Amino acid sequence: MSFERRYGPWALVAGASEGLGLAFAHACAARGLHVVMVARRAEVLAERARELRARHGVEARVLALDLAAPGLAEAAGAIADELPIGLAIFDAAYAPRGELHALPLEDHLKAIDVNVRAPLVLSHVLGGAMRARGRGGIVVVSSVAGLRGTETLATYSATKAFGRVLAEGLYAELAPHGVDVLACLAGATRTPGYEATTARDVSPVMEPDVVARLTLDALGRGPVVVPGLANRAATVLLERLLPRRVAIALIGRSTRGLQG
Ligand SMILES: NC(=O)c1ccc[n+]([C@@H]2O[C@H](COP(=O)([O-])OP(=O)(O)OC[C@H]3O[C@@H](n4cnc5c(N)ncnc54)[C@H](OP(=O)(O)O)[C@@H]3O)[C@@H](O)[C@H]2O)c1
Repeated sequence: MSFERRYGPWALVAGASEGLGLAFAHACAARGLHVVMVARRAEVLAERARELRARHGVEARVLALDLAAPGLAEAAGAIADELPIGLAIFDAAYAPRGELHALPLEDHLKAIDVNVRAPLVLSHVLGGAMRARGRGGIVVVSSVAGLRGTETLATYSATKAFGRVLAEGLYAELAPHGVDVLACLAGATRTPGYEATTARDVSPVMEPDVVARLTLDALGRGPVVVPGLANRAATVLLERLLPRRVAIALIGRSTRGLQG
């Protein structure tokens, strides 16, 4: 079955105004899907939607909302009632940077709202409609930073572990209902978010369009994809070869290196 028939006619991308989410929106459109683009900045989204329509000849809707705000389930329910969403991609994230006690508790709770609560809500609402329809796909963008606890990114890395493990569980639950679920363990990716928070590259940095393409290619082939050879090697090292405390030290050193 073609990608469009399996996961169309509409994709919803949460975090679609820039970076990896925007690349996912284009990758979906290039495969013939119409796209609902979700992010907070309405004007940026409107411009990105115009570009998407012009480049791919598909329809694009924008939904300007804060994924951390209450009312997400209702907003997702309304869009799912209106449009048959066959593919949901959860890309947006919030990463409080610094040691736990150097930041206000509210920052950490916001990361829970954006990175944990929102993908759970969207998986429940949009995935429920797919399950009833008997086909569809869900992608949760996680991170190699979620493989082990990461100092100065402890909350973020824990939320990324949640995303991966949620996707693995849903992969098993929804496969019998024709819905493919995939966690994307992205590594360093050249996005505005990465550029704004990184003093220097400490590992090969991938382009967002490559990460998006490899991820969509992997949908339906297993519960997890790690795009890029260097990221796959890092995953084997961190998960299988190194003792946990050594892996935690290594990932912490690398993260502090990124921050300069
Ligand atoms: N970049 C990397 O090196 C890297 C590495 C590993 C994993 N990842 C993962 O890849 C994903 C994307 O990262 P990225 O670097 O592309 O991020 P980014 O450039 O910071 O883009 C994040 C997107 O999410 C939207 N967004 C953020 N907070 C939101 C909120 N509360 N409500 C609605 N939309 C929100 C942003 O748009 P608005 O500002 O308009 O809301 C933007 O479209 C994340 O899940 C991240 O954990 C990235």
